[in-house]
Amino acid sequence: MEKGRIIIVEDEEDILMMLSEFLRGNGYAVDPFNDSKKALIALKNNNYQIMITDLMMPKIDGLQLINFIQKEYLDTLGIVITGYGSLETAIGVMRCGAFDYVLKPFKFEEVLATVDSAMYYFNLIKADNIPKGLRLKSNLLRRYAENKIVRENTILRSCLKDKYKFENIIGNSFPMQKVFELIEKVADTNATALVTGESGVGKELVARAIHFNSSRRDSPLVVVNCGAIPETLLESELFGYEKGAFTGAANTRLGRFEIANGGSIFLDEIGDMSVNLQVKLLRVLQERSFERIGGSKTITVDLRIIAATNRSLEDLVKQGKFREDLYYRLNVVPIHIPPLRERRQDIPLLLNYFLERSNRLNNANIEGFTEEAIKTLLDYQYPGNVRELQNIVERMAVLKRNGYIDLEDLPEKLYANEGVGETAPLNMERGYDTLVSEFEKTLIAKALQETQGVKSKAAQVLSINRTTLIEKMKRLGID
Ligand SMILES: Nc1ncnc2c1ncn2[C@@H]1O[C@H](COP(=O)(O)OP(=O)(O)OP(=O)(O)O)[C@@H](O)[C@H]1O
Ligand SMILES: [Mg+2]
Repeated sequence: MEKGRIIIVEDEEDILMMLSEFLRGNGYAVDPFNDSKKALIALKNNNYQIMITDLMMPKIDGLQLINFIQKEYLDTLGIVITGYGSLETAIGVMRCGAFDYVLKPFKFEEVLATVDSAMYYFNLIKADNIPKGLRLKSNLLRRYAENKIVRENTILRSCLKDKYKFENIIGNSFPMQKVFELIEKVADTNATALVTGESGVGKELVARAIHFNSSRRDSPLVVVNCGAIPETLLESELFGYEKGAFTGAANTRLGRFEIANGGSIFLDEIGDMSVNLQVKLLRVLQERSFERIGGSKTITVDLRIIAATNRSLEDLVKQGKFREDLYYRLNVVPIHIPPLRERRQDIPLLLNYFLERSNRLNNANIEGFTEEAIKTLLDYQYPGNVRELQNIVERMAVLKRNGYIDLEDLPEKLYANEGVGETAPLNMERGYDTLVSEFEKTLIAKALQETQGVKSKAAQVLSINRTTLIEKMKRLGID
């Protein structure tokens, strides 16, 4: 049986043929391409586990192929071949999401070793069958990348770490400066941090900055989205289980706390955690110890806990949905990120930052914004915060490609700038109930639109229960 399927993209015919033969001889199925345009189509239509690509090629280059994999959410792991002396470029390529690189001139054995380890990681990721939200895949791969660079060269290693320095958190507003100060102060302590703020303000970015600026940076940062995983599953994800703990537990499995040992764990959407699990988490916070499900041995871990939520834990405490003692344990270092509309000075910086990035990623060449466009972009409310701003800029870069972004290039919602409820003129004769229902409808539709139709998120935006939202949608006939 073949070990895996590889696509090779290389414009030098000789290398392409020899490398293909060599890898075939070592048990891989190989599709060689000397034309990157054709390769792109093949990439999309076949489930390759690995892509080996030259970096410099006419038409579509290696970096674009890597970007394509990312954009299309393909499982393929990319290995980039690049000319001698351009280690720096290679590392840049890894930052863009490549799995690994090989420098020219290379020995075939070297390529094979890289391919074998990519295959190993590929299978690991698949076998883990990770529920959405755990994002172990990117953790695993990032760790691989980091280790490789540690081996390579310490100076260049700092270049990868840069990704999590503050240069990637943009903001010169007063509140953001305060956030930076706080990160700097607490990063290298073991203090538990609680990052709060609306959706899309950059909570995860801040959590990562804390980890990567701490002395734990070479150990894992494990991300767990407590809101995305059902309660029973979350418990076993966090604490692990012993073989035979329940039907289906065929093998002992490590939980995320154990995997994060030595490093940090990021508990995202902590406000969604059930009260039952909150008790168990409290113990981990207090003692750094726990038992696996079905186990009696107490396991002690050394880890840094960072939690985040876009809900108000104070309110949840008042409502009896969040344990007060846990809240105080978590809230040792509170880091609040205000919504973008409350720190508008950051908007121009963010616009430029994302424009540059989108230009680079999409091979676009947009020079900037017209004065009118900027004005409108500055006035907008950004209910989705920085994430929304980023999406807006990326979309425009893809559609426009060059020149200046003008008013007409902006998404309609920006210049329409309608306040909710002001859309239809108020005609009192239509009756109180009808008008209120209409207002409710507009509100809900807007929230659903903002959250891509995810009801739990829409409910959060509106600060109502998910069940209340569903009831209202039924009553108002919203699909
Ligand atoms: N200050 C910033 N500078 C640059 N990029 C930012 C900034 N804030 C947020 N972003 C970007 O916006 C997106 C959303 O950020 P992030 O995932 O950290 O938000 P969040 O607060 O965790 O959101 P949610 O509550 O929805 O999980 C990311 O792509 C992130 O890189
Ligand atoms: Mg987040």
